[in-house]
Amino acid sequence: MIRFRPVIHTGLSSCPPSSTGTRSETGFIILTGCFTGTSCDLTVSLIEMGDVAQDETSFYSNAEGYWRDVSPTVDGMLGGYGRISNIDINGSKLFLHKFLGSWLLGTEGRLWVSSVLYQEKTLESQNRPLSPDSWGQVMSPDGDGKTGTGCALDCGAGIGRISKRLLLPLFSTVDLVDVTQEFLDRAKTYLEEDSKRVGHYFCSGLQDFVPERGRYDVIWIQWVIGHLTDAHLVEFLRRCQGALRPNGLILIKDNMSYEGVVPDEVDSSVCRELPMVRGLVSRAGLRIVHEEQQLDFPKEIYQVHTLALR
Ligand SMILES: C[S@@+](CC[C@H](N)C(=O)[O-])C[C@H]1O[C@@H](n2cnc3c(N)ncnc32)[C@H](O)[C@@H]1O
Repeated sequence: MIRFRPVIHTGLSSCPPSSTGTRSETGFIILTGCFTGTSCDLTVSLIEMGDVAQDETSFYSNAEGYWRDVSPTVDGMLGGYGRISNIDINGSKLFLHKFLGSWLLGTEGRLWVSSVLYQEKTLESQNRPLSPDSWGQVMSPDGDGKTGTGCALDCGAGIGRISKRLLLPLFSTVDLVDVTQEFLDRAKTYLEEDSKRVGHYFCSGLQDFVPERGRYDVIWIQWVIGHLTDAHLVEFLRRCQGALRPNGLILIKDNMSYEGVVPDEVDSSVCRELPMVRGLVSRAGLRIVHEEQQLDFPKEIYQVHTLALR
């Protein structure tokens, strides 16, 4: 799912597959879809993701093997789509600022948000959390108090692409967790001076990782949930909930399929449809407090949604 598939999803976005299907030996429903101007075969599972990862051990070890061979660069993190990183980060900033208290009504507030986007270099170089405290207490979109800017956790962090541009400019301390040691090693230099404000580099699969209770204001989980089975994702989200500070937030930003579960045998992951992700969130006992689709991504890649949970 992390890999972007230029051709197939162009068709999917405009025309859903036909409903004729047969069950394959591996338990997937094979649907042959006819797409606008193109004909292609694709495998779409209409059943629980647990069936996709029948052999859980190889589901995880194949993914680890895949990522070990990926270059520790922004382009590597984004499956060759390094050019969308700016759009992604700017979209995430706008989303997150709604909760950090920087999304004030009125011209002044909008100007401030703009300054984060367009004078990013200046603000980042100040090397401190952006705190609009002087503007008084504001409410987040769900009516709760604002989220703190003390400590964030970057899950499936890779080389720290998100930590560098989104989290470290906003939070005093950021922890990174990823299953690939080489990426975390690269993060130490990629994050430059800001690496001094990294609390921990945890090398662990999220399925095994236990975040410290009550430590985090924000837990950011981007482009990695497809590497977890349903059960592991639910359990991980539960542990994340316990790791939040008051008014803390868990954010999932990820590809969503157009229908069912789409397995990716190359990187050993799955891409779930949005209602399934919402269902897993609810199974974890979490509430979706805000949800948006990332705009301005290339048409040929999966739709990407951001969900704020607590
Ligand atoms: C598509 S990259 C995304 C990296 C980063 N989130 C970003 O957006 O730049 C996926 C990352 O997830 C990591 N990963 C894969 N399976 C994982 C697992 N089970 N637990 C933790 N990290 C995992 C990979 O090593 C890789 O760094």
